[in-house]
Amino acid sequence: MYGRLGFALTVALAIASVPAVAQDQAAAAWKKGNCKMCHGDDGSGSTPAGKAMGARDLRVPAVQKQTDVEIAKIVADGRKKMPAFKNKLSEKEIAAVVSCVRSLAQPAK
Ligand code: HEC
Repeated sequence: MYGRLGFALTVALAIASVPAVAQDQAAAAWKKGNCKMCHGDDGSGSTPAGKAMGARDLRVPAVQKQTDVEIAKIVADGRKKMPAFKNKLSEKEIAAVVSCVRSLAQPAK
């Protein structure tokens, strides 16, 4: 397997090579990863599983201010109760769910 840096770079390339990940591709990857179970389709994390595990609201600036690569790494490697997805989703699919996370962002208040 590739090292952490290698992975981050490949994901960065995957993100760069799909500047506008197709909406349906993004939605399909979000579904495949079952992100909804914990984060909800709105990213609020207000599902029963999300509340039980303390999933953070993905729409908030603290999450959104991270780079695409940082978000991709959390999804790939997991963090605390967030499962790792590097064996479940391809690099392209991870890039696609990053675009989903982005699309959840709340407009600045
Ligand atoms: C089994 C429940 C579960 C599933 C499924 C899940 N997550 Fe998470 N996720 C969590 C939890 C819990 C956290 C908070 C981790 C922590 O405490 O640091 C989290 C954190 C995150 C974060 C980091 C937010 C931050 O604090 O910066 C991102 C991004 C994220 N999830 C995206 C996803 C995506 C995309 C998917 C689908 C591929 C997914 N998650 C699937 C439970 C889940």
